Amino acid sequence: MTDAAFREAVIDLAALAHNVERLRRMIGTEHTMAVVKANAYGHGAVECANAALAGGADWLGVADIEEALELRAAGIDAPILAWLHDPDADFAPAIAARIDIGISSVAQLRAVADAQRRLAESGGDPVPVSVQLKLETGLSRNGISEPDWVEVFALAAALAETGELTVRGIFSHLANASPAADVAALALFERGLASAAASGIVPELTHLASTAAAIRMPAARFNLVRLGIGIYGLSPFDDLTSAELGLTPVMTLRGRVAAVRRVPAGTGVSYDYTYRTTGETTLALVPLGYADGIPRHASNGAAVSLNDATFLISGRVAMDQFVVDVGSHPVAVGDEVVLFGDPAAGVPTADDWAAACGTINYEIVTRIGRRVPRSFVR
Ligand SMILES: Cc1ncc(COP(=O)(O)O)c(C=O)c1O
Repeated sequence: MTDAAFREAVIDLAALAHNVERLRRMIGTEHTMAVVKANAYGHGAVECANAALAGGADWLGVADIEEALELRAAGIDAPILAWLHDPDADFAPAIAARIDIGISSVAQLRAVADAQRRLAESGGDPVPVSVQLKLETGLSRNGISEPDWVEVFALAAALAETGELTVRGIFSHLANASPAADVAALALFERGLASAAASGIVPELTHLASTAAAIRMPAARFNLVRLGIGIYGLSPFDDLTSAELGLTPVMTLRGRVAAVRRVPAGTGVSYDYTYRTTGETTLALVPLGYADGIPRHASNGAAVSLNDATFLISGRVAMDQFVVDVGSHPVAVGDEVVLFGDPAAGVPTADDWAAACGTINYEIVTRIGRRVPRSFVR
């Protein structure tokens, strides 16, 4: 038996702070942004943001303004950058909350300036707004395209001149497609910086690298790196494990065996009977399913740890549960089952799950759903 919850994601905040410290030592930039978008990659945004700041991060990065406002509402005062916006976004709440707004188009820059003017006209102290210009350098997602750079830089310089806004940063994001592609993106980014400087914009912050490039591409570090996957203790590389990078996985996903049954040979297991027992055996029921973010692709593929042994999932992962065939291994209702966690504890890893499911470790942790309570270890 165990004191584990029915299902839970245990989040080791001390490990997260350690990972930030470790990466900061390895990378050595003046500034470190902890990327806590998507509920901190499924780990819990507010708690992870605080742990990352304790570990030495001095910036927080999120995709949406709503995510940034959630951090502010929780009392987090650190600088925050948000970079992906609804086409009809009202930027006023973000400006009022001192969120740096990532700008990917002329229209967004105008919308931010308009929101700032409305705020100023509505009385009270003038609210300073700080933007960071995101340049498109080869990822083909958001970011200002090269043909629009000069127009955006000129408008930003004019708005800065009148004191309506500050261009605090210029940034971009790499495709990690190949070293050559990243070098080409870096060259384009540097051309963008030169073009901005020619328009009179020399920002306080320049940033390009997320975890992978921050570690492997020193030329991409500039004075800030945006660290996501690494702070959660997972490796962005296929050829280097988190342990080899000195990182500790932060999330352990576990549950308790909900039912145990002894069955004869030839018993079909779970929907569609994609698994049948080959002899008399014991089946243990694990109360996590695709509603909790367990990939259905893990069916008959991923392994779990149960009473010091490792077993493959048997049959289909269902919405709320899956089954493991444990043979003659002793298992009782209420025993702890670990789906993935720190390999130092002898359990499968998010990387093992990613390999079994044909995906990446990012997706394995980020998709863990709301029904799984997070319990935080400090
Ligand atoms: C713009 C931006 N910067 C940084 C990151 C963090 O990347 P990683 O988790 O690989 O460190 C992301 C994540 O996708 C991102 O979209």
